[in-house]
Amino acid sequence: MHSLMLKIYEELPRQGPGDRQSTARALRMVPGLPASPEILDLGCGTGAQTLDLAALTPGQITAVDNHAPFLDKLSENAAAKGLANRIRTLCKDMAELDFPRGSFDLIWSEGAAYQMGFENALKDWRRLLRPGGSLILSEIVWLVRNPPAELVEYLKEECPDMQLAEDNLPLIQSAGYELTGQFELPDESWWTDYYTPLEKTITQMRDKHRGDADAESVLDVLQTEINMHRKYASCYAYVFYVMKRTG
Ligand SMILES: C[S@@+](CC[C@H](N)C(=O)[O-])C[C@H]1O[C@@H](n2cnc3c(N)ncnc32)[C@H](O)[C@@H]1O
Repeated sequence: MHSLMLKIYEELPRQGPGDRQSTARALRMVPGLPASPEILDLGCGTGAQTLDLAALTPGQITAVDNHAPFLDKLSENAAAKGLANRIRTLCKDMAELDFPRGSFDLIWSEGAAYQMGFENALKDWRRLLRPGGSLILSEIVWLVRNPPAELVEYLKEECPDMQLAEDNLPLIQSAGYELTGQFELPDESWWTDYYTPLEKTITQMRDKHRGDADAESVLDVLQTEINMHRKYASCYAYVFYVMKRTG
């Protein structure tokens, strides 16, 4: 990713769609969570949901991302909230995790699994859950069977595996999970902590970098993403899947 884009993302409250209410709602759908769960948060970014999980459970959280400055932000925020003793950060590729089998009661990943592919993530992360443990992912899905060509073209590189929410259900079952809950994130979760502050930053950066073609093209890419969402919000969404490991 371009360094200016990373700098912008480091300052956002979240690096993708999400909100505290939805994190809490998904957590309530997890069956049989131990009193003090061992949690793994993958693709945590600056850790908005990590901090929420730490506030919502008394457990220990290992937060993984492959961009170290995001983790520095998370550590700073965790310390400021008095949560540093329950959040451990790890800079690592989420496709190459080497924790012992069955290390976690709960694996959480908001808006990040698509980077390695939904099905790959389901299969690869299962061994890290204890038997009966749960995997919670938010994943981008189509809301319509025939999305507009312009949108398909726009999303196909970043999200090649995108499907209708219901078409992911057989993948969940065949990867060795039982679905225990599912819901769509509300459209505000794209805006409040993500696109609204991002759009504000883009405006400020346009003044700062006027005449710098490289920076302007980065800002254009970011603005296009927001514009596409404004135009086509009814065609795609994030869905939370709450899945319990079977067997
Ligand atoms: C869309 S952001 C979501 C961040 C955060 N979960 C949130 O909802 O605000 C995706 C995150 O995954 C991280 N990421 C991407 N590829 C990764 C990989 N291979 N291993 C670990 N983290 C990765 C990015 O650095 C980024 O923080």
